[in-house]
This record gives sequence, structure tokens and C-alpha cells, in this order.
Amino acid sequence: MNPAPARLLLRDLAQVATPAGTAAPLRGQALGGIEVLEDAFVLCVGDTIEAVGRMQDLPALGEEVLELDCRGSCAVPGLVDCHTHAAFGGDRVDEFSLRASGAGYEELHAAGGGIVSTVRATRAAGEAGLLAAVELHRTWMLREGTTTFEAKSGYGLDRETELASLRAIREAGGIPTWLGAHAVPAEFDDADAYLEFALTEVLPEAARLAEAADVFLERGAFDAAQARRYLEACRDAGLALRLHGDQFTESGAIPLAVELAARSVDHLEATGENGIRTLAASDVVGVLLPASALFLGRPMPPARALVDAGAAVALATDFNPGSAFCESLPLVCSLAATQLHLSPAEALAACTVNAAHVLGGADRIGRLAPGYRADITLLDAPDWRYLAYHLGGRVVARVVVGGELR
Ligand code: NIG
Ligand code: FE
Repeated sequence: MNPAPARLLLRDLAQVATPAGTAAPLRGQALGGIEVLEDAFVLCVGDTIEAVGRMQDLPALGEEVLELDCRGSCAVPGLVDCHTHAAFGGDRVDEFSLRASGAGYEELHAAGGGIVSTVRATRAAGEAGLLAAVELHRTWMLREGTTTFEAKSGYGLDRETELASLRAIREAGGIPTWLGAHAVPAEFDDADAYLEFALTEVLPEAARLAEAADVFLERGAFDAAQARRYLEACRDAGLALRLHGDQFTESGAIPLAVELAARSVDHLEATGENGIRTLAASDVVGVLLPASALFLGRPMPPARALVDAGAAVALATDFNPGSAFCESLPLVCSLAATQLHLSPAEALAACTVNAAHVLGGADRIGRLAPGYRADITLLDAPDWRYLAYHLGGRVVARVVVGGELR
């Protein structure tokens, strides 16, 4: 890893593309408001962007500048993945093979496979093993242009492994979310007994390590009353709130998210018209996870209707071993364009500024403008829209993280 240069100049970029303005989250027409500069430069000083402009306006910089010739490349803000489950042991490749020949995801979960099988592997990994796993997943994400990632616990479901997961995420540079209500582990008779344990024994320390709390509100996981109990306790402990909701069934996640002023409600594959209207009239961000819908062969979320109704949406991978073994936000942008009917411009804003807003950091990340963190994704492409256009291709050339070239 190179030490951070005092000044880094990305010069002769074919294009610099960034969400316009300073507002967050972007919604409606503003979501597609991408500013594009042709034949441009980005100047970073330390970990911060100093200037962005046209090459013809580049000031004389004198000595002591590391210059990178970026002809043929485009710069977009470092991508922000606001929903991953990167802290897990083992894999689910056997389950994947069974699903390929027809077994259902919820069916496998009910039969003691699914999430609970990853819980066994995650407990067995130990803290060092978990850290190694999150670090490995972080390098995969970085290769795909992700410079900021959130990651959830939720595959420990005992005190030791939940806290070890949160520590590992933080140590690997991620933003930790306590997904203490992901599934009911085998040693508990029911969800209420498990929640009692989680809120009494785990929450006090989890609240010190995590930024947010998340719950899987779904048939076969936690119902709306249990989700409310969990989220209210987490809010009282100072955590921001997120929900996994409307993945398979509409079980009340959107009204609960709005009532509790959650940061986001994520998935929404099963959301109907009422849900769309309710979310659009609120400040809760709908986080869309098309790689998960694709991986499970499920319907896509009603993204176009959400955006047209005025809802704030973000895009994320949902990277996890069971429902979305995919760390690529460029692939998610392709799915957004081809399956969700979002424009490349809307997709870019959704996985930069709006994702940053979900993580509470839109004043510092998600845009290429003076004063923002020098997190930049360089695309090996003549037009920034290749981010969505190049389906599964190698579109990310390299990244700059906090002013450091990687
Ligand atoms: O977001 N839906 C719940 N949790 C994860 C999947 C977890 C798993 O299958 O291991 C999700 O899809
Ligand atoms: Fe998820």
C-alpha cells in the first residue's frame, strides 16, 4: 500500500461524473441529476478532494504532486455499499446447488439449512477467522469499486460471536450494523425468548460497537410486534434503525419503519401500492437489492414505481453466502438498468450519495466535489455509463481511498 501522497492529481480523465448539488437523499427528478465534466481532472490533498474541473482550467501546481495519466478512463465517486452481510464463516455452495435443481430458499431455511447453517460455520470460525473473512470480502468489494461498506452481524446470534462480528467489521474498515434479530438460533424455543436474551445480554455492548441495528421482519423470522420490540430497545440504546422488509411477504415493515423514523427499509420485492405510497411520503430510504432477487429467482422490487412516486431509493449488493453471493455494485447498477428500469444516472446516485445518506455520511462521501473524502472509482471506459452498461465486465480500473491510490 502506498503512503498517502500530499497531493494526487488524476489528470486527462475522459469524464468526471458525480451526483449534482449537496442535498441528500436525492429523490424524484433530482435522482437522475448527474453532472458530467469532459476532459477533466480531480485534485486530492491528503484524504480530501481539493478541486474538480476541466483540464483547460487546471492551475499550475508546482512540484510534489503525484500525477496519474487517466486518458481513456472516467471517475465516479467511490461506490458505497450500504447493505452487506460480509461477516460469515463457511459458504452455502451445497445449498446453492440444491436450489439450482429446484429446492426453495424458505423451505431450506425452515429445514434447518439457510441462515442457521451459516450460524454454525460462523461460530466455528472464531474471531481471527471472522476478521480474515471480512478482510477478504473487503478486498473483493474494493476490486469492484466499493470504497465504503456497511456490514451486518447476524450469523453469530450468541453474545460472543455477534460482538466478534461487529469488532471484525470495524477492524476491516467497515461500518457495523447489529443484525441481532436475523433468525432464531437452534438453542432457543421461540423468537420472544431469543429476543429477551439478545436485548438483555448483547445490546448493551453491541450499541457501543455498531452504528445501527437491523431486523429481518418476515414470515419464519420476526413478526412486526417482535421487530418493534427489538428496534425500540435499539433506538433507546442510541442506534440508528434499519429493517429487512417485504422480501417475501408484506408484513408491516414499511409502516413500522416510518413510525420509528428508521434510516431505511431494505429488499421490498413484495411491496405493493400502499407500501409504495407510504414510503414515498416519508424520509425512510428504500434500499433495493436486485442481486438478491436475481440470485433467488424472485420478483424484482418495484423500483420505477418507487422513484416515480417520489421515494428516496438506494442500491446495494446484499452480499451474503445464501441469497446474494455478489459483491459487485457495477453488476447491481447493470441490474438496476435492465431489471429495475432505472437510468444509469439514477443508479449511480443510488449507490453513492443515497447509500451514503443511509449510512449517515452524505456530507463527506458519495460525491466528487471539494471538501468530500478523496474516495474515487476509476472506470476503464470512455463513458461513465459503462458502469451499468458493461454487464459483468471488468469496468473498474482502480480506486482511490482517502487520497491513496490502490
Ligand atoms: O438479506 N433476508 C435475510 N437475510 C439475508 C440473507 C441471509 C442468508 O440467506 O444467509 C438477506 O437476503
Ligand atoms: Fe440483507
